[in-house]
Amino acid sequence: MYLPFQAIGIILWMVSKLSSVMRPETEVEGIVDAIGGRWSSRAIDASAPITSGVLGRLFEAARWAPSSFNNQPWRFLAFGQENADALEMARKTLVPRNAWALAAPRLIFVLSRIDISGTKRANALAMYETGMAVIQMALQATQEGLVFHQMIGFDSKQFRENFGVSENFAILTAVAVGWPGNPELIPEDLRLMETKTRTRKAIAELVFFDGAVPSK
Ligand SMILES: Cc1cc2nc3c(=O)[nH]c(=O)nc-3n(C[C@H](O)[C@H](O)[C@H](O)COP(=O)(O)O)c2cc1C
Repeated sequence: MYLPFQAIGIILWMVSKLSSVMRPETEVEGIVDAIGGRWSSRAIDASAPITSGVLGRLFEAARWAPSSFNNQPWRFLAFGQENADALEMARKTLVPRNAWALAAPRLIFVLSRIDISGTKRANALAMYETGMAVIQMALQATQEGLVFHQMIGFDSKQFRENFGVSENFAILTAVAVGWPGNPELIPEDLRLMETKTRTRKAIAELVFFDGAVPSK
């Protein structure tokens, strides 16, 4: 039989789980659920693995992104417990500020082929296109209920050296992927960010009609 405080603990844990997957989002009606519901949590459950089925759907979502001439410059280097040494080597490239991401059962490093395959020409759109593939993955992850948190905070030079990534590829981001975890387990300053209101520039700062142009 559970003691009352254990029951309260479980309820608090469940509430924290819920609040970590449900954040304030756009108030505009009709926005696609996964867009409105996506956000970058740092609280990840280190004990909950991601099945190959779920992981496969993330890559499938990315695979169907559009690109000029169907060039598909995105590449993903995935790390997980099946190769603990490689996972450890990838984790070690994260900056200390991203230590929360060590709980993620999966790290995915996003690469972009910067030349057009089969030519010596640079693909000026490679990063644009790779970003589109990543957001497709992020939206699929949101629909799956996963945390999907992109990070620039890692040592890309070290990563290139560790894994022998050719200079034909830009190493853009690392992504921490996992199931929502207990925010109590992350440092306080980061925990506060879990509940902080998310903000964005106003539409008027971003969209210009009828010949108007931005001044900043
Ligand atoms: C390319 C990119 C790099 C990012 N790098 C980091 C990072 O190194 N560490 C981190 O905690 N968050 C990082 N973030 C998360 C952003 O801070 C977050 O996306 C932004 O504040 C907007 O919040 P939202 O994703 O919850 O909407 C990064 C996001 C992107 C897209």
